[in-house]
Amino acid sequence: MRVGVLTGGGDCPGLNAVIRAVVRKGENLFADEFVGFLDGWRGVIENRTITLNVERCRGILPRGGTILFTSRTNPYKVDRGVERALETLSDQRIEALVAIGGEDTLGVANKLSQQGINVVGVPKTIDNDLSATELTFGFHTAVQIATEAIDRLHTTAESHDRIIVCEVMGRHAGWIATYAGIAGGAAEILVPEEPFDIDEVCRNLKARHAKGRFASIVVVAEGAEPKEGTLTLASPELDQFGHARLGGIANTLAEEIEKRTGFETRVTILGHTQRGGTPTAFDRVLATRFGIAAIEAVHDGAFGQMVALRADRIVRVPLEEAVTELKTVDPELLHDVAEVFFK
Ligand code: F6P
Repeated sequence: MRVGVLTGGGDCPGLNAVIRAVVRKGENLFADEFVGFLDGWRGVIENRTITLNVERCRGILPRGGTILFTSRTNPYKVDRGVERALETLSDQRIEALVAIGGEDTLGVANKLSQQGINVVGVPKTIDNDLSATELTFGFHTAVQIATEAIDRLHTTAESHDRIIVCEVMGRHAGWIATYAGIAGGAAEILVPEEPFDIDEVCRNLKARHAKGRFASIVVVAEGAEPKEGTLTLASPELDQFGHARLGGIANTLAEEIEKRTGFETRVTILGHTQRGGTPTAFDRVLATRFGIAAIEAVHDGAFGQMVALRADRIVRVPLEEAVTELKTVDPELLHDVAEVFFK
């Protein structure tokens, strides 16, 4: 078969492992030919491709990023975008397309599938917020990076008796903040799911420090929001999928914390360090399993489906289901586990 592959949305450690698995099994077992579309949906619109074969995939397993590059282009927001994408797919004689991405990329894949394109989806996002799968690859790596950073912040905060606000990624869901916060022993974890009360945050911090010298690390997801009317945040720009470009809430928060508690407060914004570099072994394995399952789905004609992890098995779920609901942090994890260590 002639199979197209693309990676869309924010990059994520493990993307190359998926590509490698798709190509290795496809070429060796099914004698497939591959076409790599560059820069996500933009490459499909603009008919920009690279040859993708086993040789091209050598050595990419431990590499972060994506050899196909990526973008946040939405064909439905580009002039004649969908028409041009369909022309490319026909021009390239693509019989099936493997789209690796998060809710936006898979949302486009779902719409194209409804227009008759043979698409199989692979879920990807460090945010881990796709409801149809229990885990996405890249999340584990991001949590590991954030946890190591929090460990380092602890020793410097301790030495100065300071509070440090550490901002992590997580636009609509606070999975990274919650996991890294628990693993790193955070004093507060602020997530988009539950607007925070700055009064309460400062009260808890003061109480901790009143017990003696204490290093307090406040982990905040970039998409966290204060309770209405309590703190004003800057308004961000929007991308083609209507998402805000976030980052920087930690600065406002630190200023307010220092003012209200009287403790010196510093800021660390981890930003894209969480998405860069080599994937953890766990993410490499999950990404490889997804890649193998995706090419198998192609040969079973399971189009309009996405591969997913459920109860440690790789299953197929309709793309439609994959993009309808966000998976948000379980409140029990926040309240019954993380909060025990806030006071
Ligand atoms: O892909 C998800 C994500 O990592 C979010 O956590 C974050 O808000 C966003 O991407 C950042 O996107 P960009 O790299 O386009 O600035």
